[in-house]
Amino acid sequence: MPRTSKTKAKEFTEISEAQIAVHWKEEEYFQPPRKFVEQANMKDPNVRKRFGPENFPDCFKEYADMLSWFEPYHTVLDTSNPPFWKWFVGGKLNASYNCVDRHLEQYRNKAAIIFVSESEDEPPIALTYQELHVQVNEMAALLRDFCGLKAGDRVTLHLPMTLELPITMLACARIGVIHSVVFGGFSGQACGARIQDSGSHILISMDAYWRGGKLIDHKANADIAVQTAKETGQPVDKVLVWQRYPGKSSSPTAMVKGRDFIVNEVLKNYHGKRVDPVPMDADAPLFLMYSSGSTGKPKGCQHRTGGYLAYVTGTSKYIQDIHPTDTYWCMADIGWITGHSYIVYGPLALAATSVVYEGVPTHPDAGRPWRIAERLGVNIFHTSPTAIRGLRKLGPEEPRKYNYHFKHMTTVGEPIEPEAWRWYYHEVGKGEAVIVDTWWQTENGGFLCSTVPALDPMKPGSAGPGVPGIYPIIYDENGDEVPAGSGRAGNICIRNPWPGIMQTIWGEDDRFVNTYYARYCKNRRSKDWRDWPYLAGDGAMKAAEGYFRILGRIDDVINVAGHRLGTKEIESACLTVTEVAEAAVVPVADEVKGRMPEIYIALKPGHKNTPDVVNRVTRATETIIGKFARPKHVYVVPDMPKTRSGKIMRRILASISNRREVGDVTTLANPTVVEEIREIVQGKEAIVTTEAVPEDIAGFGQNE
Ligand code: PRX
Repeated sequence: MPRTSKTKAKEFTEISEAQIAVHWKEEEYFQPPRKFVEQANMKDPNVRKRFGPENFPDCFKEYADMLSWFEPYHTVLDTSNPPFWKWFVGGKLNASYNCVDRHLEQYRNKAAIIFVSESEDEPPIALTYQELHVQVNEMAALLRDFCGLKAGDRVTLHLPMTLELPITMLACARIGVIHSVVFGGFSGQACGARIQDSGSHILISMDAYWRGGKLIDHKANADIAVQTAKETGQPVDKVLVWQRYPGKSSSPTAMVKGRDFIVNEVLKNYHGKRVDPVPMDADAPLFLMYSSGSTGKPKGCQHRTGGYLAYVTGTSKYIQDIHPTDTYWCMADIGWITGHSYIVYGPLALAATSVVYEGVPTHPDAGRPWRIAERLGVNIFHTSPTAIRGLRKLGPEEPRKYNYHFKHMTTVGEPIEPEAWRWYYHEVGKGEAVIVDTWWQTENGGFLCSTVPALDPMKPGSAGPGVPGIYPIIYDENGDEVPAGSGRAGNICIRNPWPGIMQTIWGEDDRFVNTYYARYCKNRRSKDWRDWPYLAGDGAMKAAEGYFRILGRIDDVINVAGHRLGTKEIESACLTVTEVAEAAVVPVADEVKGRMPEIYIALKPGHKNTPDVVNRVTRATETIIGKFARPKHVYVVPDMPKTRSGKIMRRILASISNRREVGDVTTLANPTVVEEIREIVQGKEAIVTTEAVPEDIAGFGQNE
């Protein structure tokens, strides 16, 4: 009998709640430092009331008013076609104008972006707002006149963390072209799949970049990407290749005549060109950002111009506390949503100085970030728990050797262990900086839960309440609210629309509705936003005082070092190795990265378990997805544990990987294989821990 989604959810919730409740421990509070509070942008203790349900949606005018509009909007929120909300209807604006042109009068010669090469021999390069304006205009002219791009066209950017990436993004925005930035660490094949989905005819890449002390040949990925796109029916007409060192090729990969062009060469024809920023409808798409979901196909999260820009500007001002005088460094990659919102659009809309660092945080040693902070006078620092854990492991006392002072620090992307949080606070922040733990997702545009830094005390390991204007709620499997302080977990949802929410999944409206709204929609015909809670896909708990603690994904998504990877994506990569009959991927706890994928494979009859097969499986994940998807281990097993209906029980494999009790396996079709697999992974001696385990692993696979 097919099982309903209700049954699935119930199984998940019952088991994980019980496990979660075991090791919930309340943490002590830390108060924001007085010096920070005195200078903070947001000091109004009534801010959440101002942004409360009684003032919704007009409260968000406050964020829209931070922008410059070519034409004013007439309606704040249009709910006539749920859940396809429209924000600031009737308004026209341009994102590039808001991030560049409007600052020229006051800040012309202030640094907009400071680029730091991974190679410490090269001094930082500061790009002023004036110079950014010049370069964005010239690039916009090239995109329009050389590539023939116009508003609404998509273009794929597969670029590393150099100045050329934000310049190209802003050039696209200037003429209304929708950019789709693919994280530079994705393989050529993964990039090709995203070119195909977005329907881009143009790929913008770079010849090479520094990573971990090596000059990586990135042009080779462009060739693979174009080939993959072509094979799947999407021709790429032009490949624009920036040179990492203009005037010199840094890649051994040849240019293809008639298809590949060196951007910095072609740009010479557009010297001094100015392109008027195109006034875009508030609801015109600004960019696509692909994210992993629970199926193999990545989702093209489509973000709009007006609502998105207003939301990232407002949250950059109130939650990141960015002032135009700040030097702000977010160590994320622009190829992920954090970089779009909180390296490029938010900070530049506020005329801040935003730092772009090319390389690995621990290159050449764990003191690197603190040397950069000292040299540039960084006073706001933004990073992930993975980076914090890695820097702590390699150089626990490094920060104190350097003379920098942060007023504000952010953590994002994964739950942070209170221990790591305390090191961040005492060592990195020297006890002087406020910390915000910001919970949100690619789909959301900007922060959903966080403390307001000057107003709310910090609690290690908890993101905090909803940010102003966001009304989170935890639902159980029946759609009933799980009350604050109940000690129970459930599915965190957002009750209301907000300007930063994505518009849809590119070309997949039904998938958008089904993924985020179908689960808790109260009435499909209703045009009242209150009937359409947004399902985030994370398990969470709400403490008595209203702080949310995020426990991790409830679906088949693994959060590796803050990067989302779908287990299905990795499994299908494994299946490209001819000998592999079946593959199952589970998350395993990792000291630095939080989680890593661990792969189980069963071979086709007649094939032997050899190191070569295992190596090819690992290589397949690297070439099809990217090096960051590399598994911690690959285990070849005689068979997968399966239900009688033939479903692979990933939960059992996750228990074995994480040295936990596997529980009752008697109802499986092949119960004896479980002990065989356990021996392969753990050896003859049973190593089972009863210690607390990360919750997303605890819950993982229960909803199969
Ligand atoms: O599981 C949550 C986790 O990261 C997921 C979103 O990943 P992505 O779309 O790649 O965006 C990452 C950066 C915004 C969420 O579903 N996550 C994100 N921030 C936090 C977090 N988990 C705990 N605490 C956070 N602060």
